[in-house]
Amino acid sequence: MKIWIKSTLIAGMAVAILGTGTTLTSSALAEDVKANTQLAAHHGNKMAVVKARVKNFRAISKAHKAMKKAAKAGNADAVAAAANDIAEKSDKIAGLFPKGSSRADLGKKVTRAKAAIWKDWSKFVAAANNMKNAALAVASAAKAGNAKAGAKGIGKTCGGCHKPFRGKKAKKKKS
Ligand code: HEC
Repeated sequence: MKIWIKSTLIAGMAVAILGTGTTLTSSALAEDVKANTQLAAHHGNKMAVVKARVKNFRAISKAHKAMKKAAKAGNADAVAAAANDIAEKSDKIAGLFPKGSSRADLGKKVTRAKAAIWKDWSKFVAAANNMKNAALAVASAAKAGNAKAGAKGIGKTCGGCHKPFRGKKAKKKKS
């Protein structure tokens, strides 16, 4: 009887210890899973924002080409429309560069954004504003009937930002 009680007690304690142990482990595991999910979501958001800003730049590039073509053809209305489009998209740039989305954070194959952007944030924002102002100047000249004024100025503002803030293109991913 004494032995029975003793072994039952020991068994019970073992269950209790194992039980708590298991609970601890599974809750720690749950925490880990939660942390990893958050990390993945966080990373996923950053990947999405890179996609969005590249899309915005491609649209800017497309509008820029359309603007140059229209300027050549002397189509002031089309020049104004394209220039206004560039100005609008310039406003989106700063918001598409959250902290932690540089190539140092995400990898060279993911983004060309240099860490210098966040180090010199006010310069980066100024570079986006330069493009916006150049585009607005073209738009107002075009509205006044001058289809060719300042069209070349916008192109300079692209380089004014790419040079300090955009890194070299990485070799294409194999996938
Ligand atoms: C304020 C800074 C800034 C300005 C102004 C700017 N760009 Fe960019 N551009 C960038 C950065 C940074 C990237 C890289 C984005 C990334 O990979 O996450 C980029 C990427 C691009 C891309 C996407 C493909 C690639 O090479 O990475 C194109 C196309 C592009 N820019 C064209 C232009 C054109 C055309 C202009 C001017 C009409 C312009 N950009 C003005 C900073 C700028």
